[in-house]
Amino acid sequence: MNYRPIAVFDSGLGGLTVLRALRGRLPREDFFYFADTRFLPYGDRPEVFLKERGVLIADALAQRGAKALVIACNTATAAAAEAIRDVVVLPVVAIEPAVKPAAALTRGGSIAVLATTRTVASPRFQRLVENHAGDVRVHAQACPGLAEAIEQHGPESVQVAALLDRFVTPLGALGIDVLALGCTHYPWVSAAIAARLPAGVSVLDTGDAVARQLERLLAAANRLGGGQGHLKVATSGAPGTVSATVDRLWGQHLHVEHWEP
Ligand code: DGL
Repeated sequence: MNYRPIAVFDSGLGGLTVLRALRGRLPREDFFYFADTRFLPYGDRPEVFLKERGVLIADALAQRGAKALVIACNTATAAAAEAIRDVVVLPVVAIEPAVKPAAALTRGGSIAVLATTRTVASPRFQRLVENHAGDVRVHAQACPGLAEAIEQHGPESVQVAALLDRFVTPLGALGIDVLALGCTHYPWVSAAIAARLPAGVSVLDTGDAVARQLERLLAAANRLGGGQGHLKVATSGAPGTVSATVDRLWGQHLHVEHWEP
């Protein structure tokens, strides 16, 4: 069992920011990363679609022999994490915006969250805010178009810069002192986000917290270790196109295969 890979999935290549943290913490584990590029962006899709798609992917990853599953997508978590946990008999780590740590960290009582439209609109996100940020003001900023722009045009593109000007720059006037990155694509542009905010605003990313949680769950299930640090990347889209973007974001060449759950 332990020699099996850990499966990680996202709508696209945002989850690679999580994968980087996972591999940093668990370098001996093998990983299978699936980018559901054919359906990117998840953030503009209906909840019912995301629930069905999430369950289908999770089930197919379990059938492929994964020993654990990481939902490296806030949007998929918001729509499908409960349904996935109902059907998959594996340790499952999901990811949600760092509202709780942000609320604990703020001094001025005002935080912001950047996420997809679907995440911001989800009941799960509303509950997260109600349960963990009771007396803190939370500015939830949906960023339609940002995840796709990061993949299609690159983190340093003029298209991404224009979207950050529109969604991030105005937050500086709201008096926030903590910003949570509630979409796994956004850490690819965290420096550009920080540069648009007043000095001293903390920008929180959840990759390391997910890695610690994965380690805890693997240890509890006696499934830690046994791998050799191998990584496989697959997409439901066109590997040729995705591969160029993977190489640019990851900073080294990774082979990308086609896989349909
Ligand atoms: N990376 C995904 C997330 O964490 C969403 C991007 C998309 O809209 O597909 O929410």
